[in-house]
Amino acid sequence: MTNPSLLILAGDGIGPEVMAQVARVIDWYGDKRGLKFDVSEDLVGGAAYDAHGTPLHDDTMARAQEVDAVLLGAVGGPKYDALDFSVKPERGLLRLRKEMDLFSNLRPAQCFDALADFSSLKRDVVAGLDIMIVRELTSGVYFGEPRGIFKEGNERVGINTQRYTESEIDRVARSAFELARRRSNKVCSMEKANVMESGILWRDVVTEVHAKDYSDVELSHMYADAGAMQLCRWPKQFDVILTDNLFGDILSDTAAMLTGSLGMLPSASLGAPMANGRPKALYEPVHGSAPDITGKELANPIACILSFAMALRYSFDQGDEASRLESAIESVLAQGVRTADLMQADTDAKPASTTEMGDAILAALDASL
Ligand code: IPM
Ligand code: MG
Repeated sequence: MTNPSLLILAGDGIGPEVMAQVARVIDWYGDKRGLKFDVSEDLVGGAAYDAHGTPLHDDTMARAQEVDAVLLGAVGGPKYDALDFSVKPERGLLRLRKEMDLFSNLRPAQCFDALADFSSLKRDVVAGLDIMIVRELTSGVYFGEPRGIFKEGNERVGINTQRYTESEIDRVARSAFELARRRSNKVCSMEKANVMESGILWRDVVTEVHAKDYSDVELSHMYADAGAMQLCRWPKQFDVILTDNLFGDILSDTAAMLTGSLGMLPSASLGAPMANGRPKALYEPVHGSAPDITGKELANPIACILSFAMALRYSFDQGDEASRLESAIESVLAQGVRTADLMQADTDAKPASTTEMGDAILAALDASL
């Protein structure tokens, strides 16, 4: 049997630095657990633009469609700010999501106990937190037409369109309900049905899918603004949060900070099953390319490594090995190993470098055997 295939797109900024640590973890699984992957690498974002004049080469797109999973680092940076919108680094990532049809974006926000005091919220609000945001990823205002900047009389007008079809809402709702069944069996769906027709349809379809096939799951609805407030007030009331593309982008950054740092949050973007039964999949940290700390060995590789753990779980049916990796990270944090993002600004202590965090995680993996 051939090994499962992974395409690594490290991208821009801190992407290559954090991905270098993921590559060490992948090698560890090959050496120590007999889990071998066929790994190939390619360019995305600004790096692809520099090489090819496009943020995603057609060959890379084709390769992404063939592999068992894509691992992505981060895209973007100030160097590319002046580029035309159509070739901005972000367009490469959005093309991958759209053409692979990765409609279900899983963004877990888990608070590791060792970091509970580091959150900007009180310990009892965040300790033990374990929520999952399911963000619709291939539609809504990110892709709706018409869009553009047009001339209207003497002035310009910027237009984007929030658009959702019933089937788009239906399939992402199903993925949220399925996930909830394997967790605490609760889904809270968030939209703005009080102001947006797309929100009214969203609420209707979620309610219908629930009544038809998932009435065993507890379902509630919340306006997204109230949801943002509740996430900061008492996040442990939530299990799975189901929401659209734009609200999911915002709510997942909020949820991320509950856990202490954006440097901790992984994500999985899943589509329909391929011929081999595995879902089309792309795994990436929620954080961005962090140009301010690029090249300084200051980045936290944990979000990217946890994204590989999600790949083990959701693409390769290796839930136990995913848990092994998550536990290794938990023990490293419990030992007090901290990258700069996990340290108070007023401390004199020296942060662990990106590579030192990788070293500590590999040592914890060794210790798990
Ligand atoms: C995210 C990011 C992206 C998004 C950007 C980089 C296009 O913020 O994955 O949350 O807006 O979806
Ligand atoms: Mg975002």
